[in-house]
Amino acid sequence: MARIAIVGVGAIGGVTAALLQQAGGHQLLLCTRRPASGLSVETPEGVVNVHATFVTEPSEAFDVDWVLVATKAYDVAGTAKWLERLCSKGAPVAVLQNGVEHRERFAPYLAMEKILPVMVDCPAERQSPDRVRQRGLMHLKVPDCAIGRDFVERFAGTPTDASVVPDFLSVVWRKLCFNSAGVLSALLMQPAGVVRGDALGEVALQIIRECAAVARAEGAQLEENVADLVLSAQRAAPADSINSMLADRHAGRPVEIDARNGVIVRLGLKHGIATPANSMAVALMEAMIPHGTNLV
Ligand SMILES: NC(=O)c1ccc[n+]([C@@H]2O[C@H](COP(=O)([O-])OP(=O)(O)OC[C@H]3O[C@@H](n4cnc5c(N)ncnc54)[C@H](OP(=O)(O)O)[C@@H]3O)[C@@H](O)[C@H]2O)c1
Repeated sequence: MARIAIVGVGAIGGVTAALLQQAGGHQLLLCTRRPASGLSVETPEGVVNVHATFVTEPSEAFDVDWVLVATKAYDVAGTAKWLERLCSKGAPVAVLQNGVEHRERFAPYLAMEKILPVMVDCPAERQSPDRVRQRGLMHLKVPDCAIGRDFVERFAGTPTDASVVPDFLSVVWRKLCFNSAGVLSALLMQPAGVVRGDALGEVALQIIRECAAVARAEGAQLEENVADLVLSAQRAAPADSINSMLADRHAGRPVEIDARNGVIVRLGLKHGIATPANSMAVALMEAMIPHGTNLV
């Protein structure tokens, strides 16, 4: 039996806990910062009531075989407080967060070879502290390495397509192409349908093209017309979908602007690539939310 801790039991942590329970044979330790005693996840296959031990203080935690981090990218410092106890016997840490800097975020706290970056794609949201709604399949992609293969095995037999991929860099940058344009919806406080109009569609294309240019400079392999493909997919998505940055704004929480757009500007500067659309998006968001946009 593997002992698996999840730090951050919101939308993604909740869905992951439900999957691991369905896999069977795991002892789950759910690490939250507010007291919790139960978790139910409304999955596409039905409601899963998760059976786990809940702790709110790192001192109550114990060493485990795996740690899964599913906090927001701006909550890394708080998340790290759990790791000393949970990883005291050398457990690897899977980082289920958006962006392309999973390893860099946790490098101050863990040996690099213990950090497993995870590309997670799953429409899900917290409905209340003890209830999560999962609207579709959870896709999990990890690099093809020993801990990556071990991570994938934990989900065997569950409704996810967890798999290792040979070119993880391209996978996370392609996801960032999708996420980068989501800033328009979050800035305008309107759901995903905002990019259906011609003018905002053009701005979205600029944001994605800048992301793709930086991605290629970093070594990612993307289709020549990736921006058009991403915009078409976003326009085809339900017009009332709400991305997690918009959900954070609605809830008055910080937003992952640095992980999703700031990184494009920073790495663009490194490669001498102009990123005016992303720079403007970051500046506007930071002007609107002066505190707590980038607490990494
Ligand atoms: N939601 C999606 O559909 C989706 C899809 C793909 C990728 N992602 C990415 O997945 C990551 C997680 O997103 P999410 O939507 O699951 O976020 P979320 O619903 O906001 O959940 C994050 C959870 O982390 C908890 N947390 C924060 N700091 C903590 C700490 N120090 N100790 C323990 N728990 C802590 C929060 O607690 P509180 O309840 O106290 O705030 C919250 O329950 C993000 O990088 C996001 O971009 C999300």
